[in-house]
Amino acid sequence: MAATVYAAEENGSEGAWGGGRMTDRPPRGINPGRPPRIDTSTAHSARIYNYWLGGKDNFPADREAAQAAMAANPGIVADARANRAFLARAVRYLVAEAGIRQFLDIGTGLPTADNTHEVAQAVAPESRVVYVDNDPIVLAHARALLTSTPEGAAAFLDADLREPELILKSAARTLDLGQPVALMLLIVLHLIRDAEHPERIVTRLMSALPAGSYLVLSHPARDVQPAAVAEMTRRVNDRMRGVTATPRTRDEMARLFDGLTMMEPGVVQPQHWRPDPATETPAEVTAWCGVALKS
Ligand SMILES: C[S@@+](CC[C@H](N)C(=O)[O-])C[C@H]1O[C@@H](n2cnc3c(N)ncnc32)[C@H](O)[C@@H]1O
Repeated sequence: MAATVYAAEENGSEGAWGGGRMTDRPPRGINPGRPPRIDTSTAHSARIYNYWLGGKDNFPADREAAQAAMAANPGIVADARANRAFLARAVRYLVAEAGIRQFLDIGTGLPTADNTHEVAQAVAPESRVVYVDNDPIVLAHARALLTSTPEGAAAFLDADLREPELILKSAARTLDLGQPVALMLLIVLHLIRDAEHPERIVTRLMSALPAGSYLVLSHPARDVQPAAVAEMTRRVNDRMRGVTATPRTRDEMARLFDGLTMMEPGVVQPQHWRPDPATETPAEVTAWCGVALKS
């Protein structure tokens, strides 16, 4: 399968898909020739999550699934927000304290507040971000992700996490894979089943990145409020088509960082990762997260 890249690139450079600058016009790739692939009759992970975050890019099937999940695990709305707050703190830390200027954000989700390039470029405008998602509705909203500063770059790649080779090849048109990159896999690996070996995908992606790169993960927890999470997962899985969510334990999540150096405070619930003391956080979040360095 060929990947399609849509890009807002810096002054004068070629767009990753061969187009050139395009910050002021719609992504050329959102083209009328592509048959519509958006099925709004079935709940979808990106749109369920968008509903929890208070977004408007969802349909009745998504809202019904999101509400069924909330009935089983009422904390999920606060949990989704805690995950986004973790994303912002982790990106700010990587740019401001670790000197990272390149991000590969796979399983991007629908645009929301504080998208990765916005957080990174607020600190270092030259930051370059490649977003990857396989959902056509995220692709349809990709324009909101392509608002790079002139000094930096933001590109959107329509591709599947289960095709790491394709992602690396396409991302290399926007990112310099000879320089450190932060690989971001936030609340997406649970959509890769055990039989599809999420650990091999992470290892392959990290193997292509040089020393000084970082892995940033967040993942729904199976061992926090286990009964509520199990029931929520059953309800969501019953409603999504072709995708099965697999929450994992802290130990399973920690193994995804094998071979890397964990940054403090290690694998924790998102509200405990370098919290901003001024922000009120939920006591418990049904997810694990962490940041690790490749040395
Ligand atoms: C729950 S959202 C998470 C969004 C964002 N990473 C965050 O943490 O706020 C999961 C996203 O992963 C995308 N996704 C699911 N499976 C994928 C796959 N195999 N390849 C690429 N993207 C995928 C979905 O379309 C959705 O946009």
